[in-house]
Amino acid sequence: MCGIFVYLNFLTPRNREEIIKILINGLKRLEYRGYDSAGIAVDGDTVEKGQLEMLLVKRRGKVRYLEEELEKQVQNGLDYSQMFDTHIGIAHTRWATHGEPSWLNTHPQRSDAEHGFVVIHNGIITNYKDLRAFLEGAFALAFKSKYYPNEVVVTRRGSPLVIGVKSKTKLATDRFPILFGKGHSADHRGGGSFYPSSLGALEDDESTLAPVGESGEVEYFFASDASAIIEHTNQVIYLEDDDVAAVQNGKLNIHRIKRNFDDPKESTVREIITLKMEIQQIMKGNYSSFMQKEIFEQPESVMNTMRGRVNFEKNQVVLGGIKDYMSEIRRCRRLLFIACGTSYHSAIATRQLLEELTELPVMVDLASDFLDRKTPVFRDDVCFFISQSGETADTLMSLRYCKQRGALIVGITNTVGSTICRESHCGIHINAGPEIGVASTKAYTSQFISLVMFGLMMCEDRISMQNRRIEIIQGLKKLPEQIKHVLGTDNEIHALAEELYQQKSLLVMGRGYNYATCLEGALKIKELTYMHSEGILAGELKHGPLALVDKAMPVLMIVTRDPVYPKCMNALQQVKARHVSS
Ligand code: F6R
Repeated sequence: MCGIFVYLNFLTPRNREEIIKILINGLKRLEYRGYDSAGIAVDGDTVEKGQLEMLLVKRRGKVRYLEEELEKQVQNGLDYSQMFDTHIGIAHTRWATHGEPSWLNTHPQRSDAEHGFVVIHNGIITNYKDLRAFLEGAFALAFKSKYYPNEVVVTRRGSPLVIGVKSKTKLATDRFPILFGKGHSADHRGGGSFYPSSLGALEDDESTLAPVGESGEVEYFFASDASAIIEHTNQVIYLEDDDVAAVQNGKLNIHRIKRNFDDPKESTVREIITLKMEIQQIMKGNYSSFMQKEIFEQPESVMNTMRGRVNFEKNQVVLGGIKDYMSEIRRCRRLLFIACGTSYHSAIATRQLLEELTELPVMVDLASDFLDRKTPVFRDDVCFFISQSGETADTLMSLRYCKQRGALIVGITNTVGSTICRESHCGIHINAGPEIGVASTKAYTSQFISLVMFGLMMCEDRISMQNRRIEIIQGLKKLPEQIKHVLGTDNEIHALAEELYQQKSLLVMGRGYNYATCLEGALKIKELTYMHSEGILAGELKHGPLALVDKAMPVLMIVTRDPVYPKCMNALQQVKARHVSS
């Protein structure tokens, strides 16, 4: 995934070195998203035709190569001590989807040889051929222009973009109206033209974010992810799809072309949210990777998911985000769980338990396939959208598809303020803490527990279910200790992994409650080792996959003492027989 980071200091003196340091640091915070080139654009030293030239520095490969390139420029005379009272710097990490990683393809991209406008883009514009006709596709964009010094314009659709605001003095407001294009103004307002000759024409105190007080000092940070902003400020604004945010004279306005008059719930304001995230949460500490850190956080993260929700003494569960909707949910025709990747696996993992506890039909779907099939959805369906980031495009599009058809929308996300969060009628925050590692780990266990807690709430009044509920709730209580125990076997697991890593392929097999673990395990093996791996339902072994099994094929079986244990042992025998006979 590409990463965007923009830094604007207004009446806040910084030298070029400080500005570049902030930009580079922002990119480093976004490195976890994966990328193959990086670049920045800042103001240069020379003034030509009354305009300050733009300095564009880009490199293929890691951010540290970009740093090396900048060092070279300093040795060649770039003045790092030059002061800027007000300045805009834009920075980008790119993950090539169209066109190979190369200097030319690296962002910022420029409008012309004179760098009149530079832009950074996150997302995939799949319809790039039609683009000249009309701008569509997925994007988060930030523009800087030498013709409009000290102004920046950003927008998004489908790719996340968050704005951080830092000011020594209080901000004039924490909730400000959006400026709509002509004929689309919010009811109480006059509205403005969307294509003004000067953005200044749209300025309006009520719709403007700016610090109070005389100094006017303010800094803005625009990033693909709050983790790149949190070390500077915890005051953020999440942009919605098609929002255009512009800063001029240190004042921020948010514009939209038109209102959706068909949606009575459409928000006509944007709010400043105070993030609870701590800087330590996004630091790697002594761990070799964010993923390892997040795996080892699980005894704590699963507890955080249950904190304040599960009462282990009274065997009660209360999920504040959905409790008011429980009677509607209990009356529904069926429950639909829609997600991608690991989040999808969390629904597979809990499906059996949810069927048991809710006694309702439970459908689990991959978001992309759900959309491809144009799956019928009804007003009395309850649709759950599970997403760690809360921004996954297919999951979000499925949400909108179901919402249009009148279903109740329940979001299960880890990212407060994310698009899925905002567009859901109700939901559960899994509270796993920031997940920086690209491969999802602790979010999976917290999603699993969130879904189990939902099942427990659904059956709280059923007398026949009470023993089972108590058994599950007391089981949840033991979970952090059990996870600690498993993490204690790290060295043994490491040794086993080193052995298996030598193989070409690895089958992961199980059934019942363990089937999802096989799918998730195989996904992690593929994603992290690039080796082939498949999760196989043991019940399907004799319907094809057995053909793959011979002496050379390692098979990892996940077996627990549960009702399908004898069937798993049966599958194990079949595998063993193939290992001996081949
Ligand atoms: C795998 C992984 C992905 C995500 C998937 C959905 O390790 O991380 O499969 O689970 O891209 O992402 P979210 O949960 O953010 O919607």
